[in-house]
Amino acid sequence: MKFQAVKGTRDFYPDDVRLRNRIAEAWRRVSLRNGFEEYDSPIFEYLDLFTAKSGEGIVSELFSLTDRGGRNLAIRPEMTPSLARMVNARINSLPRPIKWFSIARCCRAEKPQKGRTREFFQWNVDVIGEDSVLADAECVFVVVDFLREMGLTPREAVIRYSSRELLSAVLAGAGVAEGDMIGVMAVLDKRDKLPAEAFEEMLAKAVPDVKARDAIAGYLDMSEVGPGVGVASTARIDEAIGRVGEFNRLLGVLGIADWFRYDSGVIRGLAYYTGIVYEVFDVGRSLRAVGGGGRYDGLLEALGGPKVSATGFGMGDVVLGILLEEKGKLPETPTSLEFFVIDGDGRIDGVMRVVGGLRRRGRSADFSYARRAVGKQLKEANRRRAATALIVEQDQVAAKDLSTGDQGEAMPIDAFLAQFDGGGA
Ligand code: HAM
Repeated sequence: MKFQAVKGTRDFYPDDVRLRNRIAEAWRRVSLRNGFEEYDSPIFEYLDLFTAKSGEGIVSELFSLTDRGGRNLAIRPEMTPSLARMVNARINSLPRPIKWFSIARCCRAEKPQKGRTREFFQWNVDVIGEDSVLADAECVFVVVDFLREMGLTPREAVIRYSSRELLSAVLAGAGVAEGDMIGVMAVLDKRDKLPAEAFEEMLAKAVPDVKARDAIAGYLDMSEVGPGVGVASTARIDEAIGRVGEFNRLLGVLGIADWFRYDSGVIRGLAYYTGIVYEVFDVGRSLRAVGGGGRYDGLLEALGGPKVSATGFGMGDVVLGILLEEKGKLPETPTSLEFFVIDGDGRIDGVMRVVGGLRRRGRSADFSYARRAVGKQLKEANRRRAATALIVEQDQVAAKDLSTGDQGEAMPIDAFLAQFDGGGA
């Protein structure tokens, strides 16, 4: 019987793990230097947490299970509900604002396709407890900081943003009831994913009134946001436009405006967003979104907590990996072995003394199990990309720099190892 990995999952061979680690290290480095602290949550939760407020899209993709006690559980498809749950649980003792990040393994039972797997890693960066658009601007700054860290530029990646607050205001102005808005937004989110006719049909069902549909069309046609642009003014619309303007201004102040485009077509699939929303794309838009996020001021309250505002984003490793590969920007993933220890006299004991001595001193060292000609062992040292080969012969060690080929004088094993005592060389 032959076993295969489950469809839509990935095996990570050592080369793959090294790459994954490089990306995770960059995510962590960028998060920390922007003032975020790391948190984590269990990989499964009570099913209700995800069915409560995330919206139909994600609920239909849940990997759910029943434990032996009959409890309904689900593997996390995203971090945001778990984050909200964790913060709610300690809302009175956590100093605010809460600036947290995580690197989480998530699962969604999606149809596997380019850029979409059923298990992926997702970097999450969120600010909780700050109403002002300053927090949204800070989060997107972190996105840009990371893209730049990977060597990408605005020629390769773009962040398309819009405002759910503005869209809600337009829908309200067009007479759409508050309770129907999420459903209408779910339809609008499908605009790019469906043939035009099918989309129009769905929209007509969700918004039967032609005038209301005209107002939505006007909104979707807007290529920029400003007073009097595209949509009729109401107090609610003007307020939302004001906030988009402030967000835009902050992008300029932060020096990252050239990464951004206003795009009213960005709706976001998740139901809980309430303010600025955005998605990160490759400039040619040949790939799915690398990341996305936005403000979700009602989620903590909807999950049983007080009314506390929140904003943040998630970025997955899959599309990111494809984008970096296409742009030739994949990080280098060298192995890091300091020493490869070789015998020059067919005796393993000298090799083991040196290997043991180095490893006890916290240095990385490896060796070949088989006793073979020095040339063959050197080949293996090169294959392992060791920095230095140590040739042990008659209780003496000679170091050979594998990048230059220079070989030093032989010295007694004990004297050689003594160099590494007390944090020395
Ligand atoms: P999302 O747009 O569902 O947002 O996911 C964010 C990113 O995760 C996507 O742009 C994509 O890179 C990656 N991703 C999602 N599903 C898959 C998949 N099946 N395969 C590979 N990658 C995937 C959220 O999850 C929000 N919770 C983000 C957020 C955090 N909003 C506020 N804070």
